[in-house]
Amino acid sequence: MPDRRIISADRQEDERQFEASLRPRTLAEFIGQTNLKENLSIAIQAAKARGEAMDHVLLYGPPGLGKTTLAGIIAAELEVGFEQTAGPVLQKKLDLTGVLTAIRPRQVFFVDEIHRLMPDVEEMLY
Ligand SMILES: Nc1ncnc2c1ncn2[C@@H]1O[C@H](COP(=O)(O)OP(=O)(O)O)[C@@H](O)[C@H]1O
Ligand SMILES: [Mg+2]
Repeated sequence: MPDRRIISADRQEDERQFEASLRPRTLAEFIGQTNLKENLSIAIQAAKARGEAMDHVLLYGPPGLGKTTLAGIIAAELEVGFEQTAGPVLQKKLDLTGVLTAIRPRQVFFVDEIHRLMPDVEEMLY
């Protein structure tokens, strides 16, 4: 019998949808950070105009600042797919290989908590 719990660390589908509905979907909806938005907008427009993948972007700052949201916005504004993983999830080089094979050209690949990457996995991305 499946383990039914009232509380669980797993994210529920309705929670995921509710959380997604709170996130701004465009740069225009994202509040503040004018300089950042301007820089990102230029990079996004340039990548789209050239039909190329956008350069790598490092978003840093305390939790809740909008890094994950911005990563999603970048993909939406580029009109490309969005794939997300996290440093602690990628324990072995093989984990990264699996994720990378599913990635389409030009799509956004967001690595959350990148400071937690294992050195050899990091080396592979490099
Ligand atoms: N500048 C902003 N404008 C609008 N909403 C924001 C902004 N910064 C954060 N949020 C909202 O706050 C919540 C947490 O943001 P999130 O992107 O998960 O932060 P982080 O990934 O940096 O921890 C999300 O619901 C997000 O939409
Ligand atoms: Mg985040």
